[in-house]
Amino acid sequence: MQNDGQLLTGVAPEAGVGKPDPILVATDVRKAFGGIQAVDLDHLEVQRGGITALIGPNGAGKSTFFNCLTGFEPPDSGRWHFEGQPLQRLPAHKVARAGMIRTFQLTKALSKLSVLDNMLLAAPNQKGEHFLASLYPGSWRKQEQHNRGLAEALLERFGIAHMRDEYAGTMSGGQRKLMEMARALMAEPRMIMLDEPMSGVNPALVQSLLGHMRELRDEGLTVVFVEHDMDVVMDISDWVVCLADGRVIAEGSPDDISRNPAVIDAYLGAAHGDVTADEKPQGANAPDGEGGAPGANGEDGSDPDHGESTA
Ligand SMILES: Nc1ncnc2c1ncn2[C@@H]1O[C@H](COP(=O)(O)OP(=O)(O)OP(=O)(O)O)[C@@H](O)[C@H]1O
Ligand SMILES: [Mg+2]
Repeated sequence: MQNDGQLLTGVAPEAGVGKPDPILVATDVRKAFGGIQAVDLDHLEVQRGGITALIGPNGAGKSTFFNCLTGFEPPDSGRWHFEGQPLQRLPAHKVARAGMIRTFQLTKALSKLSVLDNMLLAAPNQKGEHFLASLYPGSWRKQEQHNRGLAEALLERFGIAHMRDEYAGTMSGGQRKLMEMARALMAEPRMIMLDEPMSGVNPALVQSLLGHMRELRDEGLTVVFVEHDMDVVMDISDWVVCLADGRVIAEGSPDDISRNPAVIDAYLGAAHGDVTADEKPQGANAPDGEGGAPGANGEDGSDPDHGESTA
């Protein structure tokens, strides 16, 4: 099926290269923690309607870059446009409202709330919570109905509707990954940024998550995801960006990237030459260890994501 990611055919595999129809353009984004320059990015454009993978060694700055762009971590400098709208210095909820939503490397769920309530909490613009809106219940009732309908439809779509009234804490790690993706869609975003959506999930569920990502892309959503498993990256990506020491060291098609000497040196860990899809990079499937992403929306940040069963 034709998708906008295919517009990338013919784009030069060069770090910082312009895209035919970028949905996100980021320039000079820098973030240091003490002496560590976590993000040191000159320029990156993300093609609308494609699946872009963000790869790179542990500590390369992938999660911190996501945090900066989505308002969870203030960068030291930088500017970025999403759909032509400048988003730097906006708090996370305003970034979300602009249509850019992220998920976390460690799944975030309120374990003592039902799955459905976790979904509803992810909906933006909860008008009923505002004093003035609550005086005019008609408007927020309509919105609440919309949110409920959307939540039910998404739970159905992701195969976890049977869990709707269960505590989120009773879900398997894999089911939580599915809920995390479903929750991100509650805000009806134009782009989702998934931080290691497949980490620690079993192979059957990886296939299901990949299927969902493809479907979302084919429906017009832009997808950016962080991934260590090169089989997955090769399989699904329209474009791959490699970060090391906070910088974009290479970008290109999956084929270009698998042959790029800088990527092989910094990440894939093999001698120069072609890397086949079944060679794993060093550090692949490393345990989760997000460096201090602030808890968003009151998440409890629990769940090491291991030992789940198929949802
Ligand atoms: N809140 C923080 N305080 C101090 N240092 C941090 C913080 N968050 C990240 N770092 C550091 O910044 C660097 C980039 O970390 P980041 O988590 O962004 O890397 P990553 O590419 O997501 O790695 P991984 O693949 O392991 O998830 C690392 O050196 C990390 O230790
Ligand atoms: Mg990370």
